[in-house]
Amino acid sequence: MVEHDSLIAAAKQARENAHAPYSNFRVGAALRATSGRVYTGCNVENSTYGLTVCAERVAIFKAISEGERGFDAIAVVTHTDVLTPPCGACRQIIWEFCGDVPVILANLKGQVEVHRMSKLFPKPFDSSFL
Ligand code: THU
Repeated sequence: MVEHDSLIAAAKQARENAHAPYSNFRVGAALRATSGRVYTGCNVENSTYGLTVCAERVAIFKAISEGERGFDAIAVVTHTDVLTPPCGACRQIIWEFCGDVPVILANLKGQVEVHRMSKLFPKPFDSSFL
């Protein structure tokens, strides 16, 4: 889909900035806000390993800190043949800020899959429980 193409291209570009010297697993993400603006992120690793932040969360936190609220879709790009889904921590954060959005997974060969968050993250804990 054309609207997915630009988000995938932005995620691919962000992946170029990945700081992944420990895993060598480079990830790019791109998030489309309802404002129309696109926010990107890459994974940022650390020598202590545990402080690593995934590309998806970098993109979301950038957008939130710029004042955005409400998002339409997020794309995640890696080099792998089996497309990379967001980790559990990122699913919680995507759900919190984006809700039931399409998650567009892609690789460098042009393979694409689209999964809705409600399928990737069934029965989430969220503010409705508080
Ligand atoms: N990673 C992401 O950035 N997003 C994902 O969806 C999966 C994993 C990163 C974290 C770490 O830097 C590397 O990929 C290997 O786990």
